[in-house]
Amino acid sequence: MGGTIFTVLFIFFITCFSAEGQKPLLSPIHKDNATKLYSISAYLETPLQRRDLHLDLGASLTWVDCTRRYKSSTYRHVLYNASLCIELDTGIYGNCFKKPGPACFNDSCEFFPENSVTRQVAIGDILLDSLALPTTNGKNPGKLLLDLDFVFSCGTTKLLRGLATGVTGLAALGRFNFSLPAQLSRTFSSPFVFAICLPSTPSANGVAIFNSFGPYFLLPGIDVSQSLIYTPLLLNPYGGTVITYVNRPSDEYFIGVTGIKVNGKSVSVNMTLLEIDQESGIGGTKITTSTPYGILQTSIFKALTAAFKEAAAAMKVTPASPVAPFSLCYAADKIPSTRVGPAVPTIDLVLQSESVFWRIFGANSMVNVGGNTLCLGFLDGGVEPRTSIVIGGLQIEDNLLQFDLVSKRLGFSSSLLFRSTTCSNFNFTNTG
Ligand SMILES: *[C@@H]1O[C@H](CO)[C@@H](O)[C@H](O)[C@H]1NC(C)=O
Ligand SMILES: *[C@@H]1O[C@H](CO)[C@@H](O)[C@H](O)[C@H]1NC(C)=O
Ligand SMILES: *[C@@H]1O[C@H](CO)[C@@H](O)[C@H](O)[C@H]1NC(C)=O
Ligand SMILES: *[C@@H]1O[C@H](CO)[C@@H](O)[C@H](O)[C@H]1NC(C)=O
Ligand SMILES: *[C@@H]1O[C@H](CO)[C@@H](O)[C@H](O)[C@H]1NC(C)=O
Ligand SMILES: *[C@@H]1O[C@H](CO)[C@@H](O)[C@H](O)[C@H]1NC(C)=O
Repeated sequence: MGGTIFTVLFIFFITCFSAEGQKPLLSPIHKDNATKLYSISAYLETPLQRRDLHLDLGASLTWVDCTRRYKSSTYRHVLYNASLCIELDTGIYGNCFKKPGPACFNDSCEFFPENSVTRQVAIGDILLDSLALPTTNGKNPGKLLLDLDFVFSCGTTKLLRGLATGVTGLAALGRFNFSLPAQLSRTFSSPFVFAICLPSTPSANGVAIFNSFGPYFLLPGIDVSQSLIYTPLLLNPYGGTVITYVNRPSDEYFIGVTGIKVNGKSVSVNMTLLEIDQESGIGGTKITTSTPYGILQTSIFKALTAAFKEAAAAMKVTPASPVAPFSLCYAADKIPSTRVGPAVPTIDLVLQSESVFWRIFGANSMVNVGGNTLCLGFLDGGVEPRTSIVIGGLQIEDNLLQFDLVSKRLGFSSSLLFRSTTCSNFNFTNTG
């Protein structure tokens, strides 16, 4: 144990004497084969342990299962009347009548951790403890950098149900000023900006880079930060979480889609659905990592599916029997492969002007459901969903996304396959 404490102190001293300015940090991103969800790895507790946390782009506060697995010599509780608890404004505190521990303390500041996949909620104590991530020069990982006062909530083992096996909590990457990237930027006096690059395969990790506008190098030596397209990040005045707070906006990332095109031809969609209603927060387009596929309001879903079917027919590709939960499928061997996936019609999400669009190629629109079948990877979200267009994991794999909370904009690369690289091409050889 003595050795471990020494290591931790040593890391801490390195951080104190390293150069000022931006302190880029990174984390690998893993795709789970069974759930098709993504997780990041971070070092938690004292002594530091590598933990996998479900990657949730839109969540407010990170939570960790601290009911049985959490073994740390440095965790601290936060009292309900502490200034931190008042800033967090969680509105709840609690007492404990069981064995005292990380998840059990009297007068503790508490929070409602949510599983964004199952929409289950628990109540957990707010804790402060260590979190460490490797630094990066944008090319390789380096030494670990330690945040001794990372703020998170306790979750429960039960709350982990529905997430990938092996995951012990949820990493919150939302707009909230106590999300993981917000805390990392504040602790290390760096800009509130981060990038994620989701892998399309469980066999090789993608990467998340915090506190840096770039470079973001992918083999063979491509700096993706040099060629991003930007669109404003929009604020939704109302959160879509199970527990919401009055006067607190959504922590999810919304963008302004103004139209959809299939093979360059406009699809007719109800414009009201594309806007965020400022009274209710209903409508608009968000990006999430908590659903594997895109989800569209029924009328948009029908219009896109019909346009896609027509454009594919014009390319002499005819549908095969659908495979649930998808409704438009094709025989894979009837569709040629290209660098950017199956040769199917392109889907463009038109943004702030006709010339700014996010083009979705076959690799990000088609799901291989096995048995020689490819299906259009969007689901029907019903007539009255909270959000009209949900861009899911499939759509953003092998695309680099930069969330710039300084300029409130999203930078996106479109498919990296076009540039003959992927999100699994970060060089994880440690140079620390
Ligand atoms: C992923 O799961 C599928 C079945 O759903 C299986 O065929 C495949 O081998 C698995 N791949 C990996 C890398 O485990
Ligand atoms: C917070 O409450 C505790 C008792 O629960 C009390 O001892 C302490 O003085 C209070 N602190 C502040 C800043 O009010
Ligand atoms: C919390 O306070 C109650 C009495 O108010 C006490 O019975 C209980 O043991 C305390 N719990 C802890 C964890 O200190
Ligand atoms: C976080 O945001 C809340 C509400 O916007 C604000 O009251 C609080 O001071 C902020 N805290 C920090 C550390 O920026
Ligand atoms: C468009 O959507 C809005 C909001 O759901 C609805 O009130 C309106 O009737 C729709 N318009 C048409 C032409 O379908
Ligand atoms: C990965 O990075 C290491 C350290 O910088 C370097 O030696 C190695 O050549 C790189 N690998 C590739 C494939 O470029």
